[in-house]
Amino acid sequence: MPDITTRIGDLTMRSPVMLASGTVGYGPEYEGIIDFAVAGAIVTKTITVEPRVGNAPPRLVETPGGLLNAIGLENVGLTAFLAEKLPEAARLPVPVVASVAGTEPAQFEQLAAAVGERDEVAAIELNISCPNVERPRNPVWSDAVAVAEIVSVARAATGKTLLLKLSPNTSDILSVAEAAERAGADALTVANTLPGMRIDVERRRPALGNTTGGLSGRALMPVNLALVWKVAGHVSIPVVGSGGIGDTGDALEFLAAGATAVQVGTALFAEPAVPSQIAEGLRNYMGKNDVASMDELVGMAREEKRVCAETA
Ligand SMILES: Cc1cc2nc3c(=O)[nH]c(=O)nc-3n(C[C@H](O)[C@H](O)[C@H](O)COP(=O)(O)O)c2cc1C
Repeated sequence: MPDITTRIGDLTMRSPVMLASGTVGYGPEYEGIIDFAVAGAIVTKTITVEPRVGNAPPRLVETPGGLLNAIGLENVGLTAFLAEKLPEAARLPVPVVASVAGTEPAQFEQLAAAVGERDEVAAIELNISCPNVERPRNPVWSDAVAVAEIVSVARAATGKTLLLKLSPNTSDILSVAEAAERAGADALTVANTLPGMRIDVERRRPALGNTTGGLSGRALMPVNLALVWKVAGHVSIPVVGSGGIGDTGDALEFLAAGATAVQVGTALFAEPAVPSQIAEGLRNYMGKNDVASMDELVGMAREEKRVCAETA
């Protein structure tokens, strides 16, 4: 069987298929539903320093080919995460990537230091891209200077592998990606959801309690794939693809574009077996097409093969 072991910094994964933040809670909620033993890693629900109750309902609404969510980062907060959720997640047979978000660099620093010193945490994903929280003007994910500051302080606070999750909702993703790489990010997750809305004409109100939400699922796939292509051609750290990945074909496209690994989110709601299906599908594809290694698979659609130390 072809080896699909994937490495990002110090994070070693049995498969390049990760479970996206916010779509599997802290992990144990999905025990018996998702086969964690076949996933590369679980990215836990983003936590903040203080607990958050999230946005007013309704928080989810379907769209053609997608889903809009406006959860608003509901989470238990740092203290309860460290005391309760993290030890429970660590019982699962899968590496834990802790996702954290702050409203200012000092909070990212505090969160990275606190989760980074725990042995249960294999890596940290800095979430600067949630569209459902404050700062509607000049959002941090579009601001390369602000992003560099966040990554720098988090980098100084922990030696753990650091992923930074970018937003697709920016006109200049390359400046942000470049700033993050220079500030010490080990990898970039490309990308989070796109803003969208629906209106309930019976109630004559926006369908979501928060008015707008983040679009995920299949409709997002080509958008984020193009961003992965762009970012992977520009930085030399690994890129992790996220956005509408629902089957082996989607995952292959992201890997071919230059992603070292992929994250699956919304697709899990309809089919929890997607991570194992993709892992098996990748092995089949490699076997049938004489692709000897993940190294050969990653970036295979690029004219100039992406050379990245972390893909072996
Ligand atoms: C219900 C829901 C909650 C989410 N919560 C988070 C979150 O807490 N942190 C985060 O970084 N991304 C969050 N996301 C974004 C996903 O991790 C993922 O990047 C995005 O949905 C695109 O991938 P997908 O189309 O495979 O779902 C959430 C997505 C959904 C659908």
